[in-house]
Amino acid sequence: MGRATKAVLAYSGGVDTSVCIPYLKNEFGVEGVITLAADLGQGDELEPIKQKALDSGAEESLVIDVRERFVNEFAFPAIQANAFYENRYPLSTALARPLIAQILVEAAEKYGADAIAHGCTGKGNDQVRFDVSITALNPKLKILAPAREWGMSREETIAYGEKCGIQSPVKKSSPYSLDRNLLGMAIEAGPLEDPWVEAPKDVYRLTKAIEDTPNEPEYVEIGFEKGIPVSLNGEFLGGVALITKLNEMSGNHGVGRIDMIENRLVGIKSREIYECPAMTVLIHAHRDLESLTLTADVTRYKRGIEETYSQLVYNGLWFSPLKGALDAFVQQTQERVTGIVRVKLFKGNAIMVGRQSANSLYSMDLATYGSEDVFDHKAAEGFIYIWGLPTRVWSEKLRQ
Ligand code: ARG
Repeated sequence: MGRATKAVLAYSGGVDTSVCIPYLKNEFGVEGVITLAADLGQGDELEPIKQKALDSGAEESLVIDVRERFVNEFAFPAIQANAFYENRYPLSTALARPLIAQILVEAAEKYGADAIAHGCTGKGNDQVRFDVSITALNPKLKILAPAREWGMSREETIAYGEKCGIQSPVKKSSPYSLDRNLLGMAIEAGPLEDPWVEAPKDVYRLTKAIEDTPNEPEYVEIGFEKGIPVSLNGEFLGGVALITKLNEMSGNHGVGRIDMIENRLVGIKSREIYECPAMTVLIHAHRDLESLTLTADVTRYKRGIEETYSQLVYNGLWFSPLKGALDAFVQQTQERVTGIVRVKLFKGNAIMVGRQSANSLYSMDLATYGSEDVFDHKAAEGFIYIWGLPTRVWSEKLRQ
């Protein structure tokens, strides 16, 4: 493959990605490392991270705020696709990876780097998402993943860093592996590795325990335009503000906690805890609005598309031809998904209790059991005769 001379490194400010900086230079022979930290709404202070990269030997330290892009180009299409991996996980981490890959590639092209580096290990999904996305966007770039090769324990990693002048972490690191962004939090490892053990209360940051949530329900009206959430309680908000606010509101009622055993692409089952309050509410509300505005056959066909879409995103194929084709289908279906859904937040539940749309296909005249009924009851008889005809023929044959 040949040596890389300049690499752009996906940087978080943690021990592993900091140690990657000297490691790339010492062990991989990379001459210059440019770090890139993406602001995805993880709530970390990015100025100290920027400095830490320089202190660890980076020649340039980039910090890029991609929150709007994250929401508009990644979260919103996923909401339109009602994307829950294995029916439960709204892909909060998985959706961030192709975007990070995209800005890494953009930076590599801008700064004339010939490689991209990241700190993922060889056991997870994130390495797949990074590598495949980078390859899709620029197949000429080399990909360096030191942590996939170095085989160092945590203590050894810290010791390697200290030898290179990198400060060891001040506070004792938590036993959990955390990944956080605007769409939610993923928590793994430590005591959670035993699937029988209930997650301790203190692992949760974005959602209240049901024991501590308000005793009164709260209602929120979510406005959608062409399948995209645009307002909360009548107030039009940009994507980042809308998700931030809805995270707070629904997290306060304990909505969006997920505790599941999930199937990683690399064949491992892992126990995951997620907190995704806004995404959980938005996908359920969006699906509810679709039930009012889409025909039965489109809704049913879309379900299969949604399943495939979720798997593609989870498995790192955001930038792939099939994903592009599914996007086209989903976009076509969203033309008339405009309206408002009323959601009741209470004790860990987000219950859809009302929906309205100028494009509603619901007809009160047809549905009513009252005197305004316009449905032609007599027409049902002939319809049922034809509908049941194959069954009648089959049954008569059996009895001959
Ligand atoms: N299992 C989740 C996923 O594959 C979350 C991964 C979280 N990553 C982490 N470094 N803790 O999307």
